[in-house]
Amino acid sequence: MLVKNCKLVVENNQEIIRDILIEDGVITKIDENIQAEGHEIVDAQSNYVLPGIIDVHTHMRDPGLTHKEDFTSGSKACARGGVTTFIDMPNTIPVTVTEKALMDKKDMMVGRSYVDYGFHFGGSKKDNSEEIKKVLDKVASTKIFLNMSTGDMLIENEKVVENIFRESKIISVHAEEGMVEKAIEFCKKYDKELYLCHLSKASEIELLKQAKAEGVKVFGEVTPHHLFLNVDDVNATERSKMLLRMKPELKEKSDNEALWKALADGTLDSIGTDHAPHLIEEKLAKLTYGVPSVENSLEMMLNGVKENRITFERLIEVMCKNPAKIFKIKNKGDIAVGYDGDLVIVDINDNSPIKDDKVITKANWTPFENCNRGGRVLTTILRGEIVYNKGNFNGIHGREVKYYE
Ligand code: DOR
Ligand code: ZN
Ligand code: ZN
Repeated sequence: MLVKNCKLVVENNQEIIRDILIEDGVITKIDENIQAEGHEIVDAQSNYVLPGIIDVHTHMRDPGLTHKEDFTSGSKACARGGVTTFIDMPNTIPVTVTEKALMDKKDMMVGRSYVDYGFHFGGSKKDNSEEIKKVLDKVASTKIFLNMSTGDMLIENEKVVENIFRESKIISVHAEEGMVEKAIEFCKKYDKELYLCHLSKASEIELLKQAKAEGVKVFGEVTPHHLFLNVDDVNATERSKMLLRMKPELKEKSDNEALWKALADGTLDSIGTDHAPHLIEEKLAKLTYGVPSVENSLEMMLNGVKENRITFERLIEVMCKNPAKIFKIKNKGDIAVGYDGDLVIVDINDNSPIKDDKVITKANWTPFENCNRGGRVLTTILRGEIVYNKGNFNGIHGREVKYYE
């Protein structure tokens, strides 16, 4: 495939126009005016072209809760949103806490995803550290829950948490407030890498900043909903009081500000959506934690660029480059020779509102209903093949990612 007239954002936030040649799924040339015969041509028409988004925090509900989402519907939502790689969380049914459950899940998902994917393994309250040893090179990380959330994966026994830290390479953690401190302590004690999922408030940012200053190998993630929404949005209507609920809960406007600042100054490392689909009927009937957002993350985050909260260059770092680096995902996250030809073309002049009735996720709603998009995803390209283009989807070419040492 030859992608013509791409507006690329490079060092120092400079913009350049280049053509990108993708052969056998891999970027082989980036240059001005490439002439090459026999390739499918896509004209980006000087729109921005980003590396495909990497969302390392998604709950695709497959197997076990497929009325909420499944690998095909969730990955289709990814394609719509410019996400070319997603990493799935282990709180499915059964939970992904044994080598067998992981292998079964991997087998089950072959040929069912629109985009590339990987898996996090789960830490179990029953202490599965022996299982963790067996899967180290087969998963992105060991995910543990140190606070209550959807699924029955909370680990309260500290000995178990310690054993899991000891045997893991990188630990992703659902931790809020005091538990963030605890997780950082274990990270120091066992000299492991720690990925703090969905930080949501100013005090947690201080903990992260302090740990980084001490040289601890810790990374911080933030979700689009914790950046853009707060308690005022929750309290707006009876409906939003039910819909805009997730763990961690939305906080104050001052927390939004602290998160944006930390994202801009490098304290926070990545955007992960915590795509957690539940049907609207389930959400309205009873307090159910989680919101779907994989298809709106890039379009929402482009607002941050428009409003000068972060640069375009920084957006690409936190949505593409850093997620790939932190989890050592091979050949992903950058537009460079040798990398996979995963691209997303966006029209930043389309600031139309996001609408519930247009969503792809089986959850069939979005927490960003009526928010103006900072731009629209026009086309999503996976390893040199169009998977989404202006409302049309094409092919189920996704495969599992690889990790490097
Ligand atoms: O709100 C949440 N929902 N937070 C989580 O940590 C899990 C998620 C889910 O799986 O529904
Ligand atoms: Zn969580
Ligand atoms: Zn989550």
